[in-house]
Amino acid sequence: MPAITLVGAQWGDEGKGKATDLVGNRVDYVVRYQGGNNAGHTVVIGDQKYALHLLPSGILSPDVVPVIANGVVIDPGVLFEELRGLQERGVDTERLLISANAHLIMPYHRALDKVSERFLGKGRIGTTGRGIGPTYADKISRAGVRVQDMFDPKILRQKIELALHDKNQVLTKVYNRRGLELEQIYDEYLGYAELIRPHVADTSLVLNKALDEGKTVYLEGSQGTLLDIDHGTYPFVTSSSPTSGGACAGAGIGPTRITKVVGILKAYTTRVGSGPFPTELLDEQGEWLRRQGGEYGVTTGRNRRCGWFDAPIARYATRVNGITDFFLTKLDVLTGLDRIPVCVGYEVNGVRHDEIPMTQTDFHHAVPVYEHFDGWKEDITHVRSFDELPKNAQAYVRTLEEMSGAPISAIGVGPGRDQTLELRSLV
Ligand code: GDP
Ligand code: IMO
Ligand code: MG
Repeated sequence: MPAITLVGAQWGDEGKGKATDLVGNRVDYVVRYQGGNNAGHTVVIGDQKYALHLLPSGILSPDVVPVIANGVVIDPGVLFEELRGLQERGVDTERLLISANAHLIMPYHRALDKVSERFLGKGRIGTTGRGIGPTYADKISRAGVRVQDMFDPKILRQKIELALHDKNQVLTKVYNRRGLELEQIYDEYLGYAELIRPHVADTSLVLNKALDEGKTVYLEGSQGTLLDIDHGTYPFVTSSSPTSGGACAGAGIGPTRITKVVGILKAYTTRVGSGPFPTELLDEQGEWLRRQGGEYGVTTGRNRRCGWFDAPIARYATRVNGITDFFLTKLDVLTGLDRIPVCVGYEVNGVRHDEIPMTQTDFHHAVPVYEHFDGWKEDITHVRSFDELPKNAQAYVRTLEEMSGAPISAIGVGPGRDQTLELRSLV
C-alpha cells in the first residue's frame, strides 16, 4: 500500500524529526533515503530530547523498522556511536536495516571536505565538514566504497588503495596536508564489517515486499528542497536529492508507490551555511527569531540565519516535490509580534518576480516584497485545535496555505510530540 514521503520545504531544519516522530506509531517502516550525518533531527518525547544525525527518526518508535537505504552515505564510526548512545538510553536498535548498496564516508572524504572548504575562503559553502560532498562525488565518479565492500576484504583493500593513490596526492601536493595510511583505514573499516553485518539487507526488496503486503513506508527526507543538488541554490547546497524524486532512487521503490508527499514548512525561514537568502534579517529582529526559535544548529552548533516566511519558496517546494500536505511548524515562535511580514515576491533590478528567479545571480540580488499581517499575543503552546488559535494566527495560517499552493494539514505549536494540531491525518 502507501509510501509517504516527507521533505523539507525550505533550507532544512524545518522540524522533520518531530514530524516523523509524530506519525511513528502509525507507520511500519521509516526510511532515510539520502544525506548522511550532516542532518540533525530533533525529537522531543516527554522530558527526553534526542538529536539524530544518521539514524531515521523512526528508531525511537518501538514498532517501526528503521531503514538506512541505498541513497544514504554512512560514516560507520558515527553510526556505531549513535547506536551506542541510543542503546545507553534504553532504545532498542536491533531492528535497524542498512542497505548493502549505501556508500561509505571514508576518512579521506572528511579530510577533503575540510581542506577544500578552507581553500574556498569567502566562497565556501559552509558545509558540515562531515565528508558528504566528497563521498557523493566518488559515488558518481564510480570510485566509491559501499557497505557490501566491507564483507570482501580483498575488494575493500583494493578500493581504499586505489582511492588513496589519488586522494593522498591531492591532500599532500595541493593542500599541503599529511597523507592517510592504507593499513590504518583498512583495519578500521574491516573492523566494522562484523558489527554492521546483522543489520545489512537488500532494503529495496524488503520495502517493496512490505508495500505489497499493505504496510506503510515513510520516507524521511533530510536537508530541504533548496539544499537539493538539482533544485536548490547551487552551489550552496548539499550533494544529494532531498526532494521527493530522490526518495525513489534513494530507497529503491517506484514513483507509483508514493501516495502522499508531506512538506515540512517553518512559519518563518532559516538557513545554515552560505548562499542566497532574500528574507534574511541581519538586525535585532533576526536575533529575536533565533532566540525565540532556538535556531542553533543541531549538528554543528552554528547560529542559524533567520528571516521571514518566503511564499515563493513554499510554492517552489510544492511544485518541485508535488507536495500534497504541509506541516507548518513553529507557529508558536511568532507569538508576540505586532505585525508579521511575509515575502510575496521579489524585485530584481527593478523587475518584479512572483516566483524564484531563474538564475542564481538574480536570486542573489532579489529584494523581498513584503505584505504585513496582524500578529497575536496569546500563548498558543497549549492549543490543540485550529479553532482555539487566536483569530490572527488562524488568518496567518490560511494566508500561508493560500500562497503555498497545498493544504496545511498539521501545525506545530511547540517542540513536544503532543504540541501539534493535526487538521487532517498525515498518513
Ligand atoms: P529537522 O532537521 O528538520 O528535523 O529540524 P531540527 O531538529 O534541526 O530543528 C527544528 C527545531 O525546532 C528542533 O529543536 C525541534 O525540537 C523544534 N521544533 C519542531 N517543531 C516545533 C514547533 O512547532 N514549535 C517549536 N517551538 N519548536 C519546534
Ligand atoms: P537537516 O536534515 C540545514 C547545509 C550545510 C551547508 C550545505 C552543504 O537537519 O535539515 P554538507 O555538509 O551537506 O555538504 O553541507 O548544506 N546542510 C544543512 N542545513 N539542515 C541540514 O540537515 C543540513 N545538512 C546540510 O550547512 O550549507
Ligand atoms: Mg536539522
